Amino acid sequence: MSILALAFDAYGTLFDVYAIRELGEKLFPGYGQALAEMWRDKQIEYTHLRTLCSMYKPFWEVTQDALLFSCQKLGLELTLDAQNALMGQYARLQAFPENLAVLQQLRANGLKLSILSNGNPQMLQAAVDAAGMQGLFSHLLSADAVKKFKTAPEAYQLGPDVFGLPAKNILFVSSNAWDACCATWFGYTTFWVNRSGAPLEQLGVRPHGEGRSLTDLIAFVEQHRN
Ligand code: LAC
Repeated sequence: MSILALAFDAYGTLFDVYAIRELGEKLFPGYGQALAEMWRDKQIEYTHLRTLCSMYKPFWEVTQDALLFSCQKLGLELTLDAQNALMGQYARLQAFPENLAVLQQLRANGLKLSILSNGNPQMLQAAVDAAGMQGLFSHLLSADAVKKFKTAPEAYQLGPDVFGLPAKNILFVSSNAWDACCATWFGYTTFWVNRSGAPLEQLGVRPHGEGRSLTDLIAFVEQHRN
């Protein structure tokens, strides 16, 4: 399993989707955490449902739909101003503090880096720009190109296609257990950034590597380069 390139999931892995709880808390005191969690869960659920039923729409719109549902479910009145503020923040989510240095080090070590995300291209570019990560990635791969979200094989196939490499020679990195497991099934070498110390999904598959932050990736990559 010689790693020649890397593909990173974006949301949750590079960009902190739960950081939105602070603005949520300001807008809806007492509900910031619940809103952040439900918003994320619904967003992912909608991507799965839309892909299963061939009813694709861009991740930005799915994210907005998930926000509307979550506010309704929690009994929160979402004004247009609050909606714009929350979506505006989502467009420039803060990156996890260690990420920039880790990405720079991987690049300095001669590895090719990409993002492989459900986010539509505009969203990904905005997030990368806001995080100061311009120039680090050779490709921002979006499920939008195949109109199917991960975990569809067509979405995972974007990595091997763009690098011209077998999936096993690409390290797919995600903090989402479902994403790391399904990418392993697809054939990638995988690393699960298990930030919250979550249990492994009971799917009968295990990512090849696991760590608590992106920093742990460096040692794994060095061990599996040749
Ligand atoms: C992504 C979501 C799933 O970036 O985290 O693809």
